[in-house]
Amino acid sequence: MANVILALVGLAAAAVAAGLWAWRSFHPVSWWYVVQFPGRAVLAYLTWHHVASGCSLTTGRRRWRLTLDALPVVGEAARSTATVVQYRRRVRRVNVEKAPRLGLMRPTRLGWRVRVRLVDGQVPADYERAAEGIAHAWRVHSVRVVDVRPGRVTLWATMRDPLTEVTVTPETGELLKVRPGKLENGDDWVMDFRTMPHHLNAGATQSGKSTLMNAVIKGLAPQPVALVGFDLKGGVELTPYAPRLSALATTRRESVVLLEDLVGELEHRMALCRAHGARNVWKLPVDLRPVPIVVLVDEVAELFLMADKSEKDEIAKTGTALLRIAQLGRAFAVYLMVCGQRIGSDLGPGVTALRAQLSGRICHRVNDPETANMTLGDMDPAALDAARAIPAETPGVCVVAGTDGSWYRARSVYVSEEDAEAAAREYAHLAPAWGDLIGSSAPPASARAWPKAA
Ligand SMILES: Nc1ncnc2c1ncn2[C@@H]1O[C@H](COP(=O)(O)OP(=O)(O)O)[C@@H](O)[C@H]1O
Ligand SMILES: [Mg+2]
Repeated sequence: MANVILALVGLAAAAVAAGLWAWRSFHPVSWWYVVQFPGRAVLAYLTWHHVASGCSLTTGRRRWRLTLDALPVVGEAARSTATVVQYRRRVRRVNVEKAPRLGLMRPTRLGWRVRVRLVDGQVPADYERAAEGIAHAWRVHSVRVVDVRPGRVTLWATMRDPLTEVTVTPETGELLKVRPGKLENGDDWVMDFRTMPHHLNAGATQSGKSTLMNAVIKGLAPQPVALVGFDLKGGVELTPYAPRLSALATTRRESVVLLEDLVGELEHRMALCRAHGARNVWKLPVDLRPVPIVVLVDEVAELFLMADKSEKDEIAKTGTALLRIAQLGRAFAVYLMVCGQRIGSDLGPGVTALRAQLSGRICHRVNDPETANMTLGDMDPAALDAARAIPAETPGVCVVAGTDGSWYRARSVYVSEEDAEAAAREYAHLAPAWGDLIGSSAPPASARAWPKAA
């Protein structure tokens, strides 16, 4: 009888274990929320005082405490024996260590977020310094300080790096939106040219700049937008995508002319909006709305490098035109994506002003801290550190920052040149001819210098 019960209990235990194992393997999401996270949370609360103390986040406080004191007794009772010690409870002030208060832990798909109330005298930077220590204590991949409010910060713990494997499709099906990769918090990384019109994509060679560009081209190719390329590295990078490009400049001469066309088109659109009392092209009636243009610049330094003095005028023109496009582009649907290894004032006077207009910043791995500084320097210093820490083994990993001060580590999805090229060929019929696009009765300036335009 006993043996049978034992066997049954064993069987039941085995079944439960198998069930749990199956749950964990086949539905890791619910397993995380129902089983793993509550366990982690309990452990984090129980150990928080130690963790905070170890990471120097506690402060000393004087508190009233009930203590047990030994008092030598003198007088009548003490006369018969040598010494009598009497224990007495007393309330007195002692030093205690106080940990900052940990709020409610809220699970996310990859970890959790928890608010911490700063103790007096602490600043968010104290938590940024302690973040690595807390991550080790909690046995998680990373802890970041996010959402700083007066008197409190939110700690965001992630169990594993979500950027080791990225599988998304760049096509979103929405106008001017592409999904080039994943963000560190597990969300899709979505570039929306309508809300963030211009992007600066910086990084050393082999850091993943072109791959990101491929993803953007693949994402935009099926959309009713015109793509325009500038590739002064002899055209080797963008020429494969020529079927989908409405215009491509590969020499300085061509780029000056193409920029002139673009500025002319901007002015044309401006006049159109004025005539219809519209603030921007999106307020125009649908049938009058011009085609959005996305301008891709492969290596911006090439546009500004001077081989000899004779190019000085052309370079000045280039700089002015790019700046003008950047300033007016948002309202008139001409968007810039500028890639480069460096975009610093050493390239010329106009570059700093241009950079200021490129509000979407993407910083891949860089060789020198200065480039990271140039790309993200006006953002959060922590973003800068994150960009400097990108290892060479993970090309495509970058720090994405916007003007609102938020930033994320992200990784682009791997889109090979062949994939992007195939997309460019498949949707070649969607590329408006340059001459039609700039829609003026006069032949476009580029028609003279650039045969492909027609
Ligand atoms: N997101 C990514 N995921 C995986 N591998 C990538 C990614 N981005 C780039 N790579 C790898 O890194 C190499 C260099 O990338 P590339 O975009 O050509 O760099 P860059 O244009 O900055 O020199 C690519 O050939 C590819 O093998
Ligand atoms: Mg490249």
